[in-house]
Amino acid sequence: MEFSIRTLAPEKATTGCLVLGVFKDGTAAGTTLTRAAQLADRAAGGALREALAQGDLAAKSGSTLLLRRLRGLAAERVLLVGLGERGEFGEKAFLEAIGAASRALKETGARHAALFIADLKVGRRPLAWNVRQAVLGVREAFYRFDQLKTQKKPPAPALTDVTLAVLGAPVTPLAQAALREAVATADGAELARTLGNLPANHCTPSHLAAEAKRIGAQYRLKVEVLERREMEKLGMGALLSVARAAHEAPKLIVLHYRGGAKQAKPVVFVGKGITFDTGGVSLKPAPEMDEMKYDMSGAGSVLGALRALAAMRAPLNAIGVIPACENMPGGAATKPGDIVRTLDGQTVEVLNTDAEGRLILCDALAYARRFDPEVVVDIATLTGACVIALGHVATGLFANDQKLADEIRAAADDAWDRVWQMPLWEDYQEQLRSNFADMANIGGRPAGSVTAACFLSRFTRKLRWAHLDIAGTAWKRGRDKGSTGRPVPLLVRFALRHAGRKG
Ligand code: BES
Ligand code: MN
Ligand code: ZN
Repeated sequence: MEFSIRTLAPEKATTGCLVLGVFKDGTAAGTTLTRAAQLADRAAGGALREALAQGDLAAKSGSTLLLRRLRGLAAERVLLVGLGERGEFGEKAFLEAIGAASRALKETGARHAALFIADLKVGRRPLAWNVRQAVLGVREAFYRFDQLKTQKKPPAPALTDVTLAVLGAPVTPLAQAALREAVATADGAELARTLGNLPANHCTPSHLAAEAKRIGAQYRLKVEVLERREMEKLGMGALLSVARAAHEAPKLIVLHYRGGAKQAKPVVFVGKGITFDTGGVSLKPAPEMDEMKYDMSGAGSVLGALRALAAMRAPLNAIGVIPACENMPGGAATKPGDIVRTLDGQTVEVLNTDAEGRLILCDALAYARRFDPEVVVDIATLTGACVIALGHVATGLFANDQKLADEIRAAADDAWDRVWQMPLWEDYQEQLRSNFADMANIGGRPAGSVTAACFLSRFTRKLRWAHLDIAGTAWKRGRDKGSTGRPVPLLVRFALRHAGRKG
């Protein structure tokens, strides 16, 4: 899909479909047209108001009405989109309108659409925000994962070109830049989604490594893949203890993107890449275990973010580190009570083999130190407890540096890929006490997502570090089951803001 942004007059736009917004309000008609819709209505001799007067559009946010071949308009179709109450129009209503318009466009034969809802004022958000969200919203709605279906594939939608129309104002370079950033981010998020949705027999650690190599070749990134033997030599006992029973070979994948000054320290993203989490000997229950194919979503988001940053030639140095393996039971598997030695020399009593994410991450985090990072952010589907705490709306944020946490919170709000900060207080550390090793790998049921973060914090003391627990936000369950591509938009926005920050 091609996106462009242009100054356009709705009545003159020659397009397959004009997308126009309608607010709900307390007037006699019950609705008010946006400025663009007014102009189109006037040119069409009042045809839009007439349709609204017949009660054909509820104008609650998310409703749509398709009109065809209106006289006086150059466009073939008009799609009216309800924006909800004018006084309540904010981020949520804007995103709902973009989503509803996209879903309706999918059902039409229009190959080109001009969106006159993208430049509507959303609170204090600048136009660049609208542009990014509109592109991501349309791309999300048009995403399909049907590569493994052989039958009953729905036909591909006709739409190939989307113009974000700006009414009565010139398109600024800032808005153009936002469009390029958004397209690259959407491509990155789509990569993360597809890797997430791919089942574990397709998306193996080797597949992740091959994808990293492919991205590396396409965007000229250096990509290194460490094999089991090299990890053994380095002493990554924690990572290897998770991979022990799997027939699939573990991989430690490292991608280097250089877009900043030579001596500029890199932003390092570390992504959990468990391509399937059975729990190991501490086996998970059968219901919904298939969803553990998504346990590599952190890894997918790191690949997606690096791809996006490279595609837009972002002005910073960034490194992705991905520990990738399966967590399987079996004759060679790690057993509860086993004690392993991590890369940085600390010992861990593995009381539960299902708390494997922290075991692969602690070695990857220790490994990341060699890159002398400016900051390290890890991304992991780490704990079911985080889903209980924050549900499927906010990603859990933990950090050992409040300035970094504040930067991530601001980037998350900007990207509308939101996080909520959780405590990382010393008081929780004692839950990880072990009688036999330096620490246990679990801290009991209370504050499960906090003690998981506390575990990681023991390997990041010398770093400015943040941890994102995406267990609740990386994928959707139920009828809409599928990867969300989160937090690629957040990671990209954070990297760009961090690169451009003052002081
Ligand atoms: N990958 C899971 C976390 C998870 C569970 C994410 C459900 C999304 C949905 C992780 O490896 C895990 O199993 N964590 C355990 C930790 C426990 C054993 C301390 C959990 O959350 O139950
Ligand atoms: Mn697990
Ligand atoms: Zn896991």
